Amino acid sequence: MALNLEERLAAAQRTIDALMRRVEQQATSGETAFSVLEQNIALEHVIAEKTRELEARRQDLQEALATLRLTQSELLQAQKLESVGRLASGIAHEINTPIQFVNDNVHFLQGAFIDVVDLFEKHRQVRTAAAAGQVSPELVRAVDEAESAADLGYLLENVPKAISRSIEGLERVATIVRSLKEFAHPEKKDRGQADLNRALASTLTIARNEYKFVAEVETDYGELPLVSCYLGQLNQVFLNIIVNAAHAIEEALRGKGQMGLIRVETRHEGDSVRISVSDSGTGMSREIQERLFEPFFTTKEVGKGTGQGLAISRAVVVDKHGGTLTFDSEVGRGTTFHIRIPIGSPAP
Ligand SMILES: Nc1ncnc2c1ncn2[C@@H]1O[C@H](COP(=O)(O)OP(=O)(O)O)[C@@H](O)[C@H]1O
Ligand SMILES: [Mg+2]
Repeated sequence: MALNLEERLAAAQRTIDALMRRVEQQATSGETAFSVLEQNIALEHVIAEKTRELEARRQDLQEALATLRLTQSELLQAQKLESVGRLASGIAHEINTPIQFVNDNVHFLQGAFIDVVDLFEKHRQVRTAAAAGQVSPELVRAVDEAESAADLGYLLENVPKAISRSIEGLERVATIVRSLKEFAHPEKKDRGQADLNRALASTLTIARNEYKFVAEVETDYGELPLVSCYLGQLNQVFLNIIVNAAHAIEEALRGKGQMGLIRVETRHEGDSVRISVSDSGTGMSREIQERLFEPFFTTKEVGKGTGQGLAISRAVVVDKHGGTLTFDSEVGRGTTFHIRIPIGSPAP
């Protein structure tokens, strides 16, 4: 259809050119004013026709744009799947560490319980013997031996610790699983009221393996009202920006063996909330700053970057939520991204 239009436009253009040439020739060869007028009228006719076709073409383009918008939501979906896939092994690792820890502690408790049961059994024998009035020195010695085998002092000190450490480990696992559910779950097409501080905390939890080797995270959550939004999409934006921060720090620290800092700050400002993510990474040159929202623009090697993160983030924040996505950056110092979302943003 587009091709057909192109052909027709080209044909119209050729007609205009021919008519123009004729008008010019006739003007120079002293044609009558009337025939020039006639030619001009024909020319106007062709121009009107061409305008109509341009209008039709504009409508075609608008349709194509609508299809493109649809594709963008599919792109978001694809990116979400990709990020969940990429995060999966990191999350498995994050869960594995406390599980290992709980496992060690529970094994210690199992051994301790066997020792205590043994000691208890010896005490029972002493009680029985005492009741019969015949406690032998051997029996007393056996109790002493069982007590020192069990190392009662050690157990009394360490069993409560092992229990509380196990509880901590299990809580850690529960937090990761809950965060994962909160990150991945909001599939709903409808917007809903969301606690963005909580969403950021979940995102930081599941992305931990992406930044923990390069950066400490500092959070400063302000008091926020619930925000009407597509939470699944905003989570994706938070993840993109946090992972970008980690990459920039990794790049800046290359081989220096230090840790950088990622700072997440939230504030309620007027009828919006602001989420700022700062990093002590490389910062961005002017050339990068001018291009970073372009789809497929990346400075990262294949496999690490797709160049889609910020393009999609901007579409989500600006187009979907009527918010803004801005940044401050200085080479050698770092970058801060500011996401602003209206609290009750209008439905798109
Ligand atoms: N926090 C940041 N610090 C420095 N550069 C950044 C930061 N965030 C984004 N960039 C630059 O913007 C580019 C595009 O980012 P993005 O759209 O997320 O794609 P990708 O991360 O796949 O490269 C990155 O390749 C990088 O050069
Ligand atoms: Mg990115």
